[in-house]
Amino acid sequence: MGAPPLPSWRRLLCSALLAASLLPWGTSEANEKFSEFSPRGWNSYDSFSWIVDENTYMQNAEILAEKLLPHGYEYAVIDYLWYRNYVDGAYTDSYGFDNIDEWGRPFPDLQRFPSSINDKGFSQLANKVHGMGLKFGIHIMKGISVQAVNGNTPILDIKTGKPYIEDARQWTARDIGLTDRTCAWMPHGFMSVNIDIGAGKAFLRSLYRQYADWGVDFVKVDCIFGTDYDRKEIITISELLQELDRPIILSISPGTEVTPALAKNISQYVNMYRITGDDWDNWKDVSSHFDVSSSFAAANKIGATGLRGRSWPDLDMLPFGWLTNAGVNQGPHRKCELTSDEQRTQMALWSMAKSPLMYGGDLRHLDNDTLSMITNPALLKINHYSINNMEFHHVYSERISKEDEHSSRFKPQDAVHLPKIDGVALGLTACSDDKANGWNYGMQDDKNISFCLGKTKPLLTSDDIIIQNEEYQTKFHLAIVDSEDACLDASVSQRRRSSDIKLPMFSRCRWHAMQMWELNEKGNLISSYSRLCATVESKNKVVTTGAVARAWIATGSKGEIYLAFFNTDSMSRNITARISDLRKVLGKKFIRKDTCSCTEVWSGRNFSFVKDEISAVVNSHGSMVFEITC
Ligand SMILES: *[C@@H]1O[C@H](CO)[C@@H](O)[C@H](O)[C@H]1NC(C)=O
Ligand SMILES: *[C@@H]1O[C@H](CO)[C@@H](O)[C@H](O)[C@H]1NC(C)=O
Ligand SMILES: *[C@@H]1O[C@H](CO)[C@@H](O)[C@H](O)[C@H]1NC(C)=O
Ligand SMILES: *[C@@H]1O[C@H](CO)[C@@H](O)[C@H](O)[C@H]1NC(C)=O
Ligand SMILES: *[C@@H]1O[C@H](CO)[C@@H](O)[C@H](O)[C@H]1NC(C)=O
Repeated sequence: MGAPPLPSWRRLLCSALLAASLLPWGTSEANEKFSEFSPRGWNSYDSFSWIVDENTYMQNAEILAEKLLPHGYEYAVIDYLWYRNYVDGAYTDSYGFDNIDEWGRPFPDLQRFPSSINDKGFSQLANKVHGMGLKFGIHIMKGISVQAVNGNTPILDIKTGKPYIEDARQWTARDIGLTDRTCAWMPHGFMSVNIDIGAGKAFLRSLYRQYADWGVDFVKVDCIFGTDYDRKEIITISELLQELDRPIILSISPGTEVTPALAKNISQYVNMYRITGDDWDNWKDVSSHFDVSSSFAAANKIGATGLRGRSWPDLDMLPFGWLTNAGVNQGPHRKCELTSDEQRTQMALWSMAKSPLMYGGDLRHLDNDTLSMITNPALLKINHYSINNMEFHHVYSERISKEDEHSSRFKPQDAVHLPKIDGVALGLTACSDDKANGWNYGMQDDKNISFCLGKTKPLLTSDDIIIQNEEYQTKFHLAIVDSEDACLDASVSQRRRSSDIKLPMFSRCRWHAMQMWELNEKGNLISSYSRLCATVESKNKVVTTGAVARAWIATGSKGEIYLAFFNTDSMSRNITARISDLRKVLGKKFIRKDTCSCTEVWSGRNFSFVKDEISAVVNSHGSMVFEITC
């Protein structure tokens, strides 16, 4: 199968970047690889809930093609329940309103999608969208519809075009539907299928074959991840997609309670996976993405191997512009409630974390400010081409406000402060475990290295643990503060916490290998003695006292550094990052001097030469993104 022609924006970017010849992934051919970049596009959910129809979808697709496709937004995705008849009594978890075909497969609601008549399904719509240079996407639910099971429809065997027969008998929907595994948030809609039997797989195969025949390029499969995690069905779908000659992006949802450890088990089978619950236009939703995106960056999940290419932690759609509400029977009718600072913060974090960017607002009402925000060239470049993306924990900040003149200056904001080590559970595990990632250095003085467990779990600072090292920067001793003679020991207590995490012991500090720890480049803290790796977890699940001034860093293809400041406080803050700290994290390769040139992306302001530190006053809930060359 030949690679599809590249849209010209991508060709341009490729050649511009290749000129710098610093690309981590080699040739421009390699660049064209499937899902090499996190997908961008438009999704109907935030503006139409489930009631989008063909006309409004096409109107949005036209604007997408005209205004956003030149910036890489290429997927036009119809979100959930396109098969539900939009009539009185139908809603998101209603029963009995779904259009299903003779084989129990969802079929577009003919009232809303008239071009699907005569068994055409979405093929006409996909054709039109392809003709505009876009890609066609749909949302689907896991498994099989409750209606198909109750109707006991036959299962299509796509090899014969006839009902599926095995062991000399015909199998039907009731044989495969797992009635005890209905979707938790849509119990009247869908249930899992038994994929341990041939008929279950045959049903799923008949679904995805049909989507490929329609010309679908993107499937967002819901109720299969996060709290509804079904590893087997995800892998089966992934395998079925690989059987097809049409490459289809596999996106999975929902993202509630997703951790890097959970994602590790499935990321290689998919292209994008949600890592949070639904994101709407309120500050709480936006700010809830900081910790989780940081943990996925620290666990090296950004752009990890995925289905036919790479996989991307997905922070959910951008609910800007003209919107509706979650799950209602109503189209767009209200403005986004985020301030423009909050919207920029969301755009900047999504870009720094290389999340897929799916615009959610009704494009027919796209205003110039929103357009320029979501097509900001520097952010889009960061979103696709930067590397070394991670949270940067060494920022300092102070409140800027008249009432608050006595606020203390320069408190490190690099990690959550826990009053006692009691709030934290240390563990030992195999170094391949994602939980073991994420340790990094803090600031140094002559003798001590303050440690920040910052990247995965922002939990420990020097206030909690003192690290002393004799052999400078190679081996550490980990002692508990206020307990002068208790060092983390690599021997393991008999008490086991969970299946694979072992509880380490603290014992009298002695300078022997049992109590020596080494930090590798991956951010593993390895016992010199047992070669097990240290983990840390908060015992109190909810970490609410997180730093209010946060920052992310990434590097570009020409040796430039991107530094984003985020102020999650309710007042303005003067945020500072020291160039020496940037050097500690990124290395001398990126920072050769203490004087850097620096441009702020949102304002375009050129700070020309900054020395030793980068400081800026950031609005409440706002962001600043610096492009820095040192
Ligand atoms: C990952 O998969 C393995 C093997 O199936 C399983 O034992 C483990 O519990 C899974 N981990 C998570 C977090 O789901
Ligand atoms: C939006 O931008 C376009 C193109 O630059 C311009 O023609 C139009 O007048 C602008 N609209 C508003 C409301 O500023
Ligand atoms: C370094 O750690 C030692 C041992 O805990 C402590 O006594 C000393 O005060 C620390 N030094 C600094 C500069 O914090
Ligand atoms: C912000 O902090 C920096 C670093 O101390 C300082 O030089 C600068 O004057 C401060 N700016 C404001 C507006 O307070
Ligand atoms: C910013 O100003 C410095 C010094 O005048 C200059 O070297 C640099 O090229 C400028 N950067 C941009 C992006 O204009």
